[in-house]
Amino acid sequence: MAKTMQAVLINKKGAAPELTEAAIPTIGVHDLLVNVRAASYNPVDNRVRKGNVSIVMKKKTVFPFVMGYDFAGTVVQVGSDVTKFNVGDDVYGRTRNDRPGSFANFMAVDEADVAAKPQSLSMSEAAALPLVGLTAYEALHERMKLTSGQKILILAGAGGVGTIAIQMAKQMDAYVATTASKKGYDLVKRLGADEIIDYHTTDFSDVLHDYDAVLDTQGGDDLIKALQIVKPGGTVVSLAGLPDAKFASEQQLGWFKARLFGLVAHKITKLAAQKRVNYHFLFMDADGDQVTNLTKLVEAGAFKSVIDRKFNFDDAIEAIDYAMSGHAKGKVIMEMPAVSLN
Ligand SMILES: NC(=O)c1ccc[n+]([C@@H]2O[C@H](COP(=O)([O-])OP(=O)(O)OC[C@H]3O[C@@H](n4cnc5c(N)ncnc54)[C@H](OP(=O)(O)O)[C@@H]3O)[C@@H](O)[C@H]2O)c1
Repeated sequence: MAKTMQAVLINKKGAAPELTEAAIPTIGVHDLLVNVRAASYNPVDNRVRKGNVSIVMKKKTVFPFVMGYDFAGTVVQVGSDVTKFNVGDDVYGRTRNDRPGSFANFMAVDEADVAAKPQSLSMSEAAALPLVGLTAYEALHERMKLTSGQKILILAGAGGVGTIAIQMAKQMDAYVATTASKKGYDLVKRLGADEIIDYHTTDFSDVLHDYDAVLDTQGGDDLIKALQIVKPGGTVVSLAGLPDAKFASEQQLGWFKARLFGLVAHKITKLAAQKRVNYHFLFMDADGDQVTNLTKLVEAGAFKSVIDRKFNFDDAIEAIDYAMSGHAKGKVIMEMPAVSLN
């Protein structure tokens, strides 16, 4: 029986990703061992590598670890208490924050974090969806509760999150403005954006006013401007801004972080209160039920995966470098071969 596999390892905080031989993970009683067939990169993978998201997580990152959260693959072994999946099932999902490991031939994942792969999607199309799909869903449906005819600005419409959020907002019958460079223009137009602002030449806050909602993927000055273009009663959901005291309390991160976040996000929460805008900092931690909901939306045709480039797993480091450049149009995928355990 094979004991080792290829995996992208982060040996210590801040270390460069390394494609190397590693032990095949052993599974717990609730786990599946999945032969990963495709995995997609998300910017959070790099943040975890640098150790700078520990502050918003319940558990600290333990080094060394195998990089990657999003995956699609085939179950090759099940733990003794697994009830929902069998060997041979095709599955996809996003592992929980404290348990990465999808940039590898095999990964151990709790069955609660997994859903059956939609039959209509290839492994790569499925691996492209979990984090960005779940994030867009939580932002647009659950936090903004976007309704027909409302106006939403989606920052960085050509990115992994933006490409799904545009499709989802159009499916919800909203008016969609987005920011993109010239290289992203055709893509966001094709996805349905009604108004496209070239962020290199135009400041969106000069041209957009009285919006119902903004999905902020940039943080910093863009978040301040987002709060200024939303009308009273509207909502700004930030994926890249500052966590506030409300987030710490929702996530049960304890009084110290609640106080700390309250202080660091004071400028944002004060501005939001002055403008009577609802501000939410969002940090996804998904489970399999949410991924199953995503499947229903995909099967209903609400949105499609948008893939920029696929790489063979042998070129995983090139894939990660390309994705980390921050210029991908949609998702960057690594494809792994079918590997038998025997
Ligand atoms: N908190 C959470 O739970 C959560 C979840 C998902 C994502 N995020 C965060 O959300 C952000 C976006 O994620 P992603 O996966 O969409 O990233 P991504 O796929 O790497 O985004 C790349 C795209 O962003 C565009 N872009 C870069 N700077 C821009 C700017 N200033 N204005 C407009 N577009 C810009 C690039 O276009 P050009 O190259 O053409 O300029 C490129 O197409 C990241 O910061 C990520 O960490 C957070």
